[in-house]
Amino acid sequence: MGKEALKDRNISEKQQPWWKSAVIYQIYPRSFCDSNGDGIGDLQGIISRLDYLQELGVDAVWLSPVYRSPQDDNGYDISDYRDIDPIFGTLADMDELIAEAKKRNIRIIMDVVVNHSSDEHVWFREAKKSRSNPYHNYYIWRDGEEGTPPNELKSAFGGSAWTWVPECGQYYLHLFSEKQPDLNWENPEVRHEVHEMLRWWADRGVGGFRLDVVDLFGKEVDKMITKEGTMLHPYIKEMSKAVFCNTDLVTVGEAWSATPERALLYSNPDGSELSMVFQFEHISLDQQEGKTKWDLAPLPFLKFKQVLSKWQTELYQRGWNSLFFENHDLPRSVSRFGNDREYRIESAKMLATLLHGMQGTPYIYQGQELGMTNIRMELSEYQDIELLGMYRERKAAGYPEEELMEAIYAKGRDNARTPMQWSDAPNGGFTTGTPWLKVNPNYKQINAYSQVQDGNSIFHYYRKLIALRKKHSVLVDGRYELLLPEDSSVFAYTRTDEKTRLLVLCNFTADTVAFSMDEDWTDAEVLIGNYESPSASGTLRPYEAVMLKKQRTAEMK
Ligand code: GLC
Ligand code: CA
Repeated sequence: MGKEALKDRNISEKQQPWWKSAVIYQIYPRSFCDSNGDGIGDLQGIISRLDYLQELGVDAVWLSPVYRSPQDDNGYDISDYRDIDPIFGTLADMDELIAEAKKRNIRIIMDVVVNHSSDEHVWFREAKKSRSNPYHNYYIWRDGEEGTPPNELKSAFGGSAWTWVPECGQYYLHLFSEKQPDLNWENPEVRHEVHEMLRWWADRGVGGFRLDVVDLFGKEVDKMITKEGTMLHPYIKEMSKAVFCNTDLVTVGEAWSATPERALLYSNPDGSELSMVFQFEHISLDQQEGKTKWDLAPLPFLKFKQVLSKWQTELYQRGWNSLFFENHDLPRSVSRFGNDREYRIESAKMLATLLHGMQGTPYIYQGQELGMTNIRMELSEYQDIELLGMYRERKAAGYPEEELMEAIYAKGRDNARTPMQWSDAPNGGFTTGTPWLKVNPNYKQINAYSQVQDGNSIFHYYRKLIALRKKHSVLVDGRYELLLPEDSSVFAYTRTDEKTRLLVLCNFTADTVAFSMDEDWTDAEVLIGNYESPSASGTLRPYEAVMLKKQRTAEMK
């Protein structure tokens, strides 16, 4: 099944895949829009906001998981891959969402969590009954003594990655919570189930897939290898052959361990693996060397420029980048890399300019287009399994309370998960009930309603950036070059194709700064900028950003 329907959507080889000029918007359904007052966002809520997304101009929506799930990790623990969780709606709602989105030229991208399932998936409920159960081998088991796990592997959410099951006299592996048992990718039946499930969704009309923690699929637990095991790329190739190849499905893998070298495999333009991966090198710089994200350090700005530039250069014409500063696991970028106080609007637009000027597919995380900020709450108000696990472990290890809270304020995943701020109505217009997670009290100033009205808002700035990508193919194809690599305030680069050259200038500080460049840009056209008129050449005001364009002449390199 599946193959025939997919063939209809073949693309000619010469044409660029649609996702190279696309902008993708990520929805975290739980926090997007609640249609029935139970305090949790849902599919009908999303449907009611599709016009907003169409106005913004995005081509696709990546939907964080809405499948049936006990919600131990907010849906990243799936108990039925072919059904919708009742808190979000029904399969009929999902079909309606796909159809309504399609009317607005928006594709729906499903989040595929198949490194692990929920422990409440029927496969695991069977698997844990006995060693001889037909589903036992769907998961990763090792013998051992109760109380002495097979090895030192740790769960990302705290504690050992192994949990004992007395019925089997064995441990099962869970690299995340104990309610997220790892699927056994070495078992061909498991891989086949995954392929069938993906085809089932493709047949329902979805536009693609985001593959959760794809770099863990080939783990070799006895060698303590979790990321990038020997079989990783063969498994992806097999999946691509079975499901993605010769279709126009977009596929993006989440790969925390990816280097540019690896990304060239994952995003090989021959289509043998995926369209692109999310890499996290630029996202992992503001932490102490060799430690975790909770061990805070200031952002090394020169390194930040160098890392982003390296990815631009290394993948040029040989792979494809995804471009992002935010998602549901990361803090808000304006609070992290910008200034969420007096220069919130300027710095949010500056970060947007920086990212949308680069080569790759930009991703906008819900609320980023409004400049939504981090939040500080009482410990008891936090919900996220990851930050609560960290708090428990570090508290027990004697870390001072203040340090733990600072880490949570800076990096906790709930920063990005506070409900979407639609208006200045109670709870930001997200729900008429009690929201599952506190709404950021700044919703009175920061909300979609007021920004849609205001032509100078961050929302409209994003809308213009998206439109620019459609209009200027140099944004899609142009060669990237970093300028001023040693400048500690300004991020500057060019994009060049046969006919055109763009210059992007971004001031990362709250000061007016001066810089000098060899090339003359005085008569260039201003495509977009975050101040009413651009600065005198050679200076930038606080968090100023500008994108300039000129025709290329013979003497330009
Ligand atoms: C990915 C998801 C994250 C989740 C984890 C386990 O990193 O983005 O939200 O907790 O995988 O599925
Ligand atoms: Ca609801």
